[in-house]
Amino acid sequence: MTFTRPDPLLERRDGEIGRPVSRVDGPAKVRGEATYAADIPLPGMVYAALTFSTVAKGSIASLDTAEAEAAPGVLLVMTHRNAPPMKPTPTFLSAPMALGSDDLPVMQDDRIHWNGQPIAVVLADTQEQADHAASLVRATYRAEPAATTFDEAVRRPAPKVFGELSVIIGDAEASLAAAPVAVDRTYRTPRHNHNAIELHAATLAWDGDELRVHDSTQAVAWAASTLAAVFDLPEEQVRVTSEYVGGGFGGKTLWQHQILAAAASRLAGRPVRIMLSREGVYRVVGGRANTEQRVALGAGEDGRLTAVIHTGTAAMTAHNAMPEAFIAPAQCLYRAESFRLEVEVADLDMLANTFMRAPGEAPGSFALESALDELAERLGMDPIELRLRNEPERDPTDGRPFSSRNVVRAFRDGAERFGWDRHDPTPGARREGEWLIGMGCATATFPYQRFPGGRARITLSRDGRAVVEVGAHEMGMGTATVQSQIVADRLGLPMGAVSFRQGDSALPGAVLAGGSSQTASVAGAVHAAHDALLGELLKIVGPDSPLAGLTADEVEGGGGGLVATDDPGRHESYQAILDGAGRGALTVEAEASDPTETERFSMHSYGAQFCEVRVNAVTGEPRVSRLLGSFDCGRILNTKTAASQLRGGMIMGLGMALVEETEFDERTGRIMNPSLAEYHVPVHLDVPEIDVIWTDIPDRNTPLGARGVGEIGITGVAAAVANAIYNATGRRVRELPITLDKLM
Ligand code: MOS
Repeated sequence: MTFTRPDPLLERRDGEIGRPVSRVDGPAKVRGEATYAADIPLPGMVYAALTFSTVAKGSIASLDTAEAEAAPGVLLVMTHRNAPPMKPTPTFLSAPMALGSDDLPVMQDDRIHWNGQPIAVVLADTQEQADHAASLVRATYRAEPAATTFDEAVRRPAPKVFGELSVIIGDAEASLAAAPVAVDRTYRTPRHNHNAIELHAATLAWDGDELRVHDSTQAVAWAASTLAAVFDLPEEQVRVTSEYVGGGFGGKTLWQHQILAAAASRLAGRPVRIMLSREGVYRVVGGRANTEQRVALGAGEDGRLTAVIHTGTAAMTAHNAMPEAFIAPAQCLYRAESFRLEVEVADLDMLANTFMRAPGEAPGSFALESALDELAERLGMDPIELRLRNEPERDPTDGRPFSSRNVVRAFRDGAERFGWDRHDPTPGARREGEWLIGMGCATATFPYQRFPGGRARITLSRDGRAVVEVGAHEMGMGTATVQSQIVADRLGLPMGAVSFRQGDSALPGAVLAGGSSQTASVAGAVHAAHDALLGELLKIVGPDSPLAGLTADEVEGGGGGLVATDDPGRHESYQAILDGAGRGALTVEAEASDPTETERFSMHSYGAQFCEVRVNAVTGEPRVSRLLGSFDCGRILNTKTAASQLRGGMIMGLGMALVEETEFDERTGRIMNPSLAEYHVPVHLDVPEIDVIWTDIPDRNTPLGARGVGEIGITGVAAAVANAIYNATGRRVRELPITLDKLM
């Protein structure tokens, strides 16, 4: 962030920023008044259901839709034989606003690319009729040999090394061989699926060549741009809104269901609602890829690292470009003389994998932070002390200065509050009856980012109200609340006089609710729009105004108007300024400064995760009894919503550690547990009280000193749990999830 002057809000602690403000969208949600994509009725709307392929690779040999077409209420059965032409979906990063997950043709031919690929869309008068008819579509296949097991794919020769995911410094293998103390281990993490509470859904309609979509998406502008590309339309002919999203986590992007619903709607000439079933989400929406990771660490007797090797393989498909970047934590966390960090990918014939909360860092931190714990034991050193001894002064792999890094403080504060002094390094030393008790810790990290292209529009009206509009997203994390706090403080208005509108591709700004970047991206855009507003207001103040003659650098918002920064006596209310100029309202729009801060600095959120587990010595049942996260995420803008984000991430980490796993039938590549009955996530009884603390030290290179809090919570948790389980039992489990069969 580059500022024309020091941001007055960076230092202020007397406003709304930093307070535990409750979510402004809370009352509407509790009353059932918040409308989600599948809540919006359109006149003449019909309901869609999908039929999924049952082989992983090959072609459709026969497709019989007669029975489905004759079923009650059915309007249309769309297959590759009658689907309208559509262009391949631009995949993420292939164009500035590309949101596709893979570039496979969508129902354009008879080819099958994964087990679960949609082969037919049924439109009917009711959802039940559509679901029933979809079950009547009969297909046979010419199946071809398919790569459906990660184990085999990993062992295939010549996997691809991902160019950007390779860091070589010195000769790490030689340093490892020469190291007085070393560990060299392999860790594995499974496929994970997205399970947002709100199922993926879209309600859409065509008006001539204009497409209007109510979607559940993390990126309205990107979804509109990508749909326009698929249907070969000018961007402005597609509008996507997503006022509320019931959870995203990286999965609420663009998948085949929105495209198929739009195509079927065009064919049928009717508005369409598609809401995937829970099984449908597993078949159509990708998740986190399997990984097999080698972490080898070499150190001197003093614990100083001489070699950090983090290599391995992530599953991917030939049609997407989202390698699970598990080396990211090793790139920034520890000083070492040599590094070898590399991600290889092995292609499977499966649904494209995608972003899932802390992609890369979540599985990567499990392996790296487990290995640190193993090295600490070899050294006979406290695992926190080992981390502190390897604290770098600059980014250890690219040499840039850190913008702000207080991971040592996070460990010290967390250790004290958690009672780490009661940690006994001898495994199995603490026992209460049948229960073995252990403690573990790990480092958490996630990069700071701000995406370019953030814009905001502010409308100030003479009644002293401000409306801020940004094409951002409220997925339940508190976007509208935090941005309202920021706007209130910037403009010097009470919270009640501010409203924030988001979730519409027609609003300014190509904002993405991803990469833990949205808060900073929007805050940067609001800052720019506010600067523009100050300029516009000063242009219209009258010659007798107390503000006359001041420049935008010399005023700020305060007391319901503008005030001279150096002279609080020079103040004029917004109402007086607008009235004086005969204006009912004033609207400004501006673009955020380019995110050059990430070019100049190594920027990350950090944290220290602490876990206490109890493992039943008879049954092997692991129970997490305490979790504490001590975070360093810059300034905390809302202590309530931030704590919820961090705690929610830690719960996801707990699920990753102990229960989450997508199970494939390895003969056919079909997901066997496509439901929350069989794909386990932590339930209330699995989740202990979670303590969350933070340094609250502003990062002066970001808007308002804040870095992301959305994804870091999950990182490090699985390692902290695994390390605690080792401490409790002496069993080192290197493959997630740590189920009781691995502990018996
Ligand atoms: Mo996140 S995985 O960028 O929604």
